[in-house]
Amino acid sequence: MEHSEKLGLRARYGGYALVTGAARGIGRAFASQLAEDGFDLLLVDREGEETIALAEELSAAHQIDVRSLICNLAEPGLENKARKWLDEFEIGLLVNNAGVSVLDSFFDISLDAHLRTLDLNCRATLVLTHIVGKAMAARGRGGIVIVSSASGLSGSPYVCNYAATKGYGLNLACGLWSELRGSGVDVIAVCPGMTDTKPVRDQSLGKELPFYVPINGPDVVALGALCALGKRPALIPTVADRMSAGLLSKIFPRGWTLSIMKRSIEKMRGG
Ligand SMILES: NC(=O)c1ccc[n+]([C@@H]2O[C@H](COP(=O)([O-])OP(=O)(O)OC[C@H]3O[C@@H](n4cnc5c(N)ncnc54)[C@H](OP(=O)(O)O)[C@@H]3O)[C@@H](O)[C@H]2O)c1
Repeated sequence: MEHSEKLGLRARYGGYALVTGAARGIGRAFASQLAEDGFDLLLVDREGEETIALAEELSAAHQIDVRSLICNLAEPGLENKARKWLDEFEIGLLVNNAGVSVLDSFFDISLDAHLRTLDLNCRATLVLTHIVGKAMAARGRGGIVIVSSASGLSGSPYVCNYAATKGYGLNLACGLWSELRGSGVDVIAVCPGMTDTKPVRDQSLGKELPFYVPINGPDVVALGALCALGKRPALIPTVADRMSAGLLSKIFPRGWTLSIMKRSIEKMRGG
């Protein structure tokens, strides 16, 4: 089988790459980049048709084995599913990408919706990282990516719980990066700013962006994270986002940052 191995990650980690939320957006970009690198793929998503269509497309284009694992990662029983996947496949790279955000005032979002966000963004990430990561550590090789968010660096109004879950992912990745350094298992958190995907388009957030909020393509985020894996614990994928995050999370006092974010989000929402 001919593999392009552009990134060299398949050669480094071996096995299948498991990508959550693979049908769309940033997850789809990860799956495409990893297919180009020659990985066999496990595409996990709740979108059946789109996932199966993507699996067929990538398998045909790259002569790789691509399996669609259709499930809702926020539902109970993920531990058993993850153990079953691990029994069946050697997983060399795990991309914890699936995540949801609800944009509204904290108390206008139901507690149920907040809990579903927590179940996907934190619980599913913890379960997969623990179960799949432990097998990687035993083998002495593997890679783990956690898709966090720039909002996780500072907290954010109108996505208070979402930003808190993204802080969880960032800190989980950073702690693990340090603990596993030298073990052969690489870990990275990627903290994208605004990225051009369906949730952003559905909420019309791309339309009224202030000049200091750049919008990136999903490929930039995925490729940036994969290139930086093994080199640093966390990455903000673009220079513009790094500058904006540097100002907002390192230079300005947190109160200023949150006021700026509040005004920006209200402007984007037309409020
Ligand atoms: N887009 C941004 O501006 C941005 C910025 C920073 C961080 N991020 C993070 O990047 C990640 C990907 O975001 P995205 O914008 O690419 O999202 P997206 O376009 O909505 O893609 C996410 C995929 O995950 C699936 N999914 C959602 N909940 C699931 C669940 N419970 N079980 C299984 N699959 C599920 C979605 O299915 P449905 O379509 O049915 O929901 C969708 O196919 C998320 O963690 C997000 O927080 C995004």
